Amino acid sequence: MKPKVFIAKPIPKEVEEYIAQYCDYRMWEKTEQIPNEVLLEEVADVDGLLTPKGVITKKFLEKAPRLKVVSNIAVGYDTFDLEVMKEHRIVGTHTPYVLDEAVADLAFGLILDSSRRISEFNNLVKAGNWDKTKPETYFYGQDVHHATIGIIGMGRIGEKISRRAALGFEMNVLYHSHTRKPALEEQYGIEYRELDSLLESADIVVMMLPLTSETYHYMGAEQFNKMKSSAIFINCSRGQVVDETALIAALQEGKIRGAGLDVFEVEPIEKDNPLLTMDNVVVLPHIGSATDRTRFDMAMKAAENLVAGVTRGVPENVVPELRCLFEK
Ligand code: GLV
Repeated sequence: MKPKVFIAKPIPKEVEEYIAQYCDYRMWEKTEQIPNEVLLEEVADVDGLLTPKGVITKKFLEKAPRLKVVSNIAVGYDTFDLEVMKEHRIVGTHTPYVLDEAVADLAFGLILDSSRRISEFNNLVKAGNWDKTKPETYFYGQDVHHATIGIIGMGRIGEKISRRAALGFEMNVLYHSHTRKPALEEQYGIEYRELDSLLESADIVVMMLPLTSETYHYMGAEQFNKMKSSAIFINCSRGQVVDETALIAALQEGKIRGAGLDVFEVEPIEKDNPLLTMDNVVVLPHIGSATDRTRFDMAMKAAENLVAGVTRGVPENVVPELRCLFEK
């Protein structure tokens, strides 16, 4: 008998066909997000779940007594309760590597947009407000090439951003991370800095940390105060690694020059969030990995992880905290 799995969002046909070779499956086919009560009914008798950022808690697992594998179609897995999953011996997997380049591209999109005020002036031109009365200096932004960039978090995506920054834009690249990366320092000439020193020196600060209990509100008022008043803040990781109230205050008080944000503490962002009214803030709807190719690759990688798990193999991308489940 094939293992049973539930697919909690529509996936490309080719990925569905791959899963069908190994599993009996049901799938949520609508584009809107699956309601939680439907999900709970669907997981009652399955061995595996393919999910976009599934929230896995003790309560959830009580409703899914057969569940063995949760395959996340995302690299971040901050929605997993890892202790509970360990206790229940649930294998959790994610999709590293396949999205690194796409997220690094988007980070650079935000860097360029915020520094050269692209969205701001796009809005101005489309609103019919490009006129000759404005002084030339009104349109000035900041150089990206040869600027100093400070990357907080030097994981796989941080590395791709460094590469673009060092080789493409000839930037001075500083980084802060819980481990030093001597090979990258050698390869791209990037320089490790303590956090305060990075914040004080960078023209552009890029947040690239995963969300954990240690990184929650990693950037707060104290850290924004250390940044240059001419600096730009970019976040493409998770909204909760930043104290958004402190970020808003820093922008309102001119403590930093602007921000480019793909992620927020509450998503979708609330309509009355002050960030939405600031011309010096670029906001995006969490699209770091959202390209045809990358999202296909993520779905296929997640399907491979799922199939390996439910057929009792070792999935390639078990999240680090749960690899102990495979240790003898
Ligand atoms: C996107 O946010 C991801 O974690 O893949």
